[in-house]
Amino acid sequence: MKIFAIESSCDETACAVVEDGRRVLSSVIASQVEEHRLYGGVVPEIASRRHAEAITGVADKALSDAGVSLDGIDAVAVTYAPGLIGALLIGVNFAKGIALAKNKPLIPVHHLRSHIAANYIAHPSLEPPFLCLVVSGGHSHIIEVQSYTEFRVLGRTRDDAAGEAYDKAARALGYPYPGGVEIDRAAKRGDKTHYKLPRPKVVGSPYDFSFSGLKTAVVNLIHNAGQKGEAVVKEDVAAAFQDAVSEILVSRTMAAAAETRAKTLVLAGGVSANSGLRARMQAACETQEVALYMPPLSLCGDNAAMVGAQGYYEFRAGNTASMDLNAVASLSIER
Ligand code: KG4
Ligand code: ZN
Repeated sequence: MKIFAIESSCDETACAVVEDGRRVLSSVIASQVEEHRLYGGVVPEIASRRHAEAITGVADKALSDAGVSLDGIDAVAVTYAPGLIGALLIGVNFAKGIALAKNKPLIPVHHLRSHIAANYIAHPSLEPPFLCLVVSGGHSHIIEVQSYTEFRVLGRTRDDAAGEAYDKAARALGYPYPGGVEIDRAAKRGDKTHYKLPRPKVVGSPYDFSFSGLKTAVVNLIHNAGQKGEAVVKEDVAAAFQDAVSEILVSRTMAAAAETRAKTLVLAGGVSANSGLRARMQAACETQEVALYMPPLSLCGDNAAMVGAQGYYEFRAGNTASMDLNAVASLSIER
C-alpha cells in the first residue's frame, strides 16, 4: 500500500511516499528555519504563508522522486494535530483536496505518533509494545506504546518541553534559533562541572518533568555574571545544561522502564538527535539490559516519511477521516 504523506505542523513543509509503513519511496522537506531565525523563533503567521507557497512544489517533487502519480497512490495521510493551527490547516486542506479529487482515503495522523513511527522506518524488526520517550520542541512525554495505535502517557512536562528549554537556554547564551543543536555542539567542547545547575523534580510524580526552572537557572547564571562584569564560559554552560537535561530525561525514563518492566525503549522527536541524550540513554539501557532504538538523525526532526509510516498503521486500524476533518492545535496522543 502506497501512502502519500503530508506534514506542516510547524516550520517544515514536507511530503513523502511510503510503502506499507516501512519503505520510504521519497521524502522531501522544505525548511523555513532561515526566515524564522531572523525573529528568534517560529512566527506562526509566516509559517502558514510559507507552507501555502511551498506545498505544491514539495508534493510534486515527492511524487516524481517516488516515480508515482496521485492516481498510483492508495491513500493520503496528513498531520492534523497537534501544532500551529494555521500551519496544520495548510496540510490538512491540501490533503483533503487530493483525497476528494482522486477519491482516495484520508488518514489523519497525530504528530507525536508519527515521531514514534520514524523508528519503524529505521528499525524493520521494531514492533509495539515498548516504552517511548518523545522529546520535541513542543512535547516531552514518557509513553507506553501498547500497539501501533494505542498509547498511555506515564509522564509529561509540567511546563517547558525539552526542546523549548534547549532553545530558550540557547537564546540566553546568544546562539541563533533553533538553539538545541547549537548547545549540543558547544557542549562537546565545554566542562560540565564548571557550573552547577539544578535537576528539578515534580513532587509526587516520578515520571513528570519540569524544565522551566532549569532554563531560569541558566538565565540567572548569565545575568549574575553580567552584573559582576564577567562573561560566562558559554561552552561550559552548554555542557552543564546538556548534562542536566539528559540526566533528568534518562533517570525518569529508566525509572518508568523498571516499574513497567519494559524490555524495549524507543527515543523519538527532535531532541532525540541530541548527542548527550543518546549517549547517556545508551549507557543506561546497557546497564539495565533494555534494548534501545533511536531514529537516525535524518528522521529525528519533522518530516513526512514518519507520517506515511504511522498513517499505514492508522489505516489498518480503520482510522480514516471524512471531508469534515479539521486541524487541532492541542490533542492528547491517547485519543
Ligand atoms: O520534533 P521537532 O523537529 O519539532 C517539534 O515537533 O517540535 O523538534 C524540534 C526541537 C527544537 O526545539 C530543537 O532545538 C530540538 O528539537 N533539537 C535539539 C537537537 N536537534 C533538534 N535539541 C537538542 N539537541 C539537538 N541536537
Ligand atoms: Zn515534531
